[in-house]
Amino acid sequence: MTFGTQESPSAVIVLAAGDGTRMKSSLPKVMHPIGGRSMVQHAIATARELSPEHLAVVVRHQRDLVVQHVTDFDDQVRIVDQDEVPGTGRAVEVAVDALDALGGGDIQGTVIVTYGDVPLLTAATISDLTRYHREQDNAVTVLTTNLESPGGYGRIIRNEGGEVTAIVEAKDATPEQLALTEVNSGIYAFDAAVLRESLRSVTTDNAQAEKYLTDVLSIARDNGHRTSALTIEDRWEVEGANDRVQLSQLGKILNERITEQHMRNGVTIVDPATTWIDTTVTIENDVTILPGTQLHGDTSIGTGATVGPDSTLTDVRIEQHATVTRVHGSDSVIGEGATVGPFTYLRPGTVLGGKGKIGAFCETKNAEIGQGTKVPHLSYLGDVEIGENSNIGAASIFVNYDGVNKHRSVIGSHVRMGSDNMYVAPVTVGDGAYSGAGTVIRKDVPAGALAINEAPQRNIEGWVEKKRSGTAAAEAARRVRERNADESIEEG
Ligand code: UD1
Ligand code: CA
Repeated sequence: MTFGTQESPSAVIVLAAGDGTRMKSSLPKVMHPIGGRSMVQHAIATARELSPEHLAVVVRHQRDLVVQHVTDFDDQVRIVDQDEVPGTGRAVEVAVDALDALGGGDIQGTVIVTYGDVPLLTAATISDLTRYHREQDNAVTVLTTNLESPGGYGRIIRNEGGEVTAIVEAKDATPEQLALTEVNSGIYAFDAAVLRESLRSVTTDNAQAEKYLTDVLSIARDNGHRTSALTIEDRWEVEGANDRVQLSQLGKILNERITEQHMRNGVTIVDPATTWIDTTVTIENDVTILPGTQLHGDTSIGTGATVGPDSTLTDVRIEQHATVTRVHGSDSVIGEGATVGPFTYLRPGTVLGGKGKIGAFCETKNAEIGQGTKVPHLSYLGDVEIGENSNIGAASIFVNYDGVNKHRSVIGSHVRMGSDNMYVAPVTVGDGAYSGAGTVIRKDVPAGALAINEAPQRNIEGWVEKKRSGTAAAEAARRVRERNADESIEEG
């Protein structure tokens, strides 16, 4: 999401070194997907929207997997390895040291700390936090929210004047402190110099024997710096996913936000509860999305198109005014005003031209189908290129695989191919050609020719009564024979 005035911090540090045991997964916690991106990808994409000078991700647990994943989508991110000293304070300390060591002197200005497992946090909120931090001339500003059941979150301690004086971890808190409902989101804005200096005084003298980042606030305050909190209403923005139950709850909330945004932009979504749209999908106005539709990856939909019901599309480009009904598709293009479905399977490399049609029970793969060309029923099109305004009869199969290699077929424009044809690739059919029903096309068909297989039908009279006597079919045949015999006697 983009917005008008944004406040750029000097650095964003994303913490992702924790172990995430409650996921019970071989996949690192921050790599679990939600809304079409991994959690850490959300964190990095959000940070990037703010154009910070520096962006660092702190890793340790399943380090190599996380590093590979992060650099795959953003190779400019600074990877920082946390050492064996545990705690959020240590994680930030190693990140600050690494950024300071980059050259050009110690980093200065506002440093934002976020987590790799808080996927709904928006750039707008980080921007608000940065702006508030600067306006208040703070050294530490913590983002907080109020929770009815604050559970294991760190509690925000304020003095009589309402000033934030400390953050106390639940495990270290007194019963009175545990009763407080204002909690630490774990997201902060720091002045770089105060952060660097305060972290040196943080000890591991606490219930978890960790270096707590939360201690920086009280240390900075004791050293005469200004500290305060920015409180947000929307708790979901700062909610982390620690297990798969929370992951699915956050996924639902994220989807509600995405679908609402599209509706506000002029997209009709008949049932947002059964419509799942990734963060990365783009949809123009006056698109209608029917229930049971999932839109993933780089899918895009042009104005006036209707998609669904019950369609799952991944990396599919749907051009304007197309109709896509009960389709499972990936890596494909559906042209302007084209029609696909119902019950159609589009595999990668399918490109359907404008006003074209791929109808019921068709499967396509690496198939370029020209403008106005129709493949209406029950067909398989693999490794084929078809020109414009052609018609492929029902139940046609492009036999693209000889058991060892795949071969390609090329069909011209304005052809009229019969039903139940087999195209034994590689084969070409020229413009304007026709074929009869049931033709096995093994040889190229020249432009304007009619292709038929010379195998005249032969009827062996009385075969069923002779060879299948005693069956219902033989009985039926006998009745017709006897009736015909009676009729001929009457006539005679
Ligand atoms: C932390 C805060 C707590 C706050 C809560 C919000 C501290 C001491 N406590 O608690 O006040 O309410 O977050 O969710 O900061 N991480 C590292 N290295 C570490 C430890 C953690 O990178 O050594 C990362 C984790 O991967 C995670 C984040 O820091 O992304 C938070 O760690 P977690 O263990 O969940 O902190 P909490 O104990 O929940
Ligand atoms: Ca946590």
